[in-house]
Amino acid sequence: MKKVLKGIGFVFGSLIGLIILLALGLYMKSRLEFSHTYNVNVESASIPTDATSIDHGKHLATILCMECHSQDLGGDTNWMALGALGGVKAPNLTNGKYGIAGQLSNTDLVRILRHGVKPDGTSVFVMPANDFYHLSDSDLGDLIAYLRSVPSVDRGDDKPDVQMTFIGNVMYGAGVFGNLLRASTIDQTNRPATPQPGISIEYGKYLVNINGCHDCHGVQLSGGKSGDPQSPPAPNLTPGGDLKNWSEADFLKTLRTGSTPSGDLLEPRFMPWPWKGQMTDDELKAIWMYLHSLPPLPTTTSSTG
Ligand code: HEC
Ligand code: HEC
Repeated sequence: MKKVLKGIGFVFGSLIGLIILLALGLYMKSRLEFSHTYNVNVESASIPTDATSIDHGKHLATILCMECHSQDLGGDTNWMALGALGGVKAPNLTNGKYGIAGQLSNTDLVRILRHGVKPDGTSVFVMPANDFYHLSDSDLGDLIAYLRSVPSVDRGDDKPDVQMTFIGNVMYGAGVFGNLLRASTIDQTNRPATPQPGISIEYGKYLVNINGCHDCHGVQLSGGKSGDPQSPPAPNLTPGGDLKNWSEADFLKTLRTGSTPSGDLLEPRFMPWPWKGQMTDDELKAIWMYLHSLPPLPTTTSSTG
């Protein structure tokens, strides 16, 4: 009997030992990925100074940046609070107290936005540089021009942007959230072609790319899930899903009001329609044209990171 108990104790002890070893391994894997540095060639950007370009930069910041960095770009220290896993803050992008604008050159901004690489060479976490990678030279220039002109906001704290706990790192190492270190997912050696603005399938595709519809709705837009564990699945946007029965007007209304033709109200915390819905009619029509040109795919729900 004693022998059997001893045996059970041994198995149990080994099991706990194994679990601890596995957790430590996953923790170290996560830390290694976070500290990996990237060497990228950064193009010099030409930054316009005229009011029309700055205005257009504000439009881009509204649809692309404010959902996380706040309407005044003063950041959000509580942007993603994941309890025992830790938290992530969206830093203050202005020149005010705790703001980072003063520490970043225009080249730094191009490196962060297009390549997902911070001044210390490591990757941004969560921040969708994999989408901004698609920004044309002129859109990127306008965006940076606006960032340089935005009024200072005094808000924030001294804590690091990413505050992951041991458990958070173990889960990240296990791949629970997908790959959110964006620099590793960007093709750093090629620049994508950029189409002329207009109501066209090509420009619609460009807008879908810079807006990151793929990040949640899936690589093929046939349905997916964002890295946010609390988010519901993002529906199929190809004509294989609900959108096959929508009109262009239904699509515009859904993005502007969050209310779908079937009467569902889209949760703004998970589907950023209050920001995406501020695109112009022409921009939304181009997106609609592109979505409608896609092959009708069956709905998928896999995580897309
Ligand atoms: C989905 C949320 C999200 C969106 C959208 C977003 N950001 Fe961020 N941003 C973050 C987070 C989170 C960080 C902190 C990332 C880190 O430190 O790894 C960050 C960091 C930054 C940084 C600082 C990087 C550094 O050196 O530490 C800059 C600059 C920035 N964002 C600019 C922008 C601009 C400009 C846009 C719009 C074109 C934008 N962000 C859109 C979440 C977002
Ligand atoms: C951060 C993740 C995220 C991004 C980015 C995103 N969506 Fe969504 N979207 C969702 C989620 C989640 C839902 C479902 C929300 C709900 O059920 O409350 C949704 C719902 C929708 C719906 C309603 C579909 C239906 O069948 O009812 C449309 C249309 C839509 N998104 C279009 C877009 C377009 C176009 C873009 C890019 C401009 C985009 N979304 C970007 C997460 C996202």
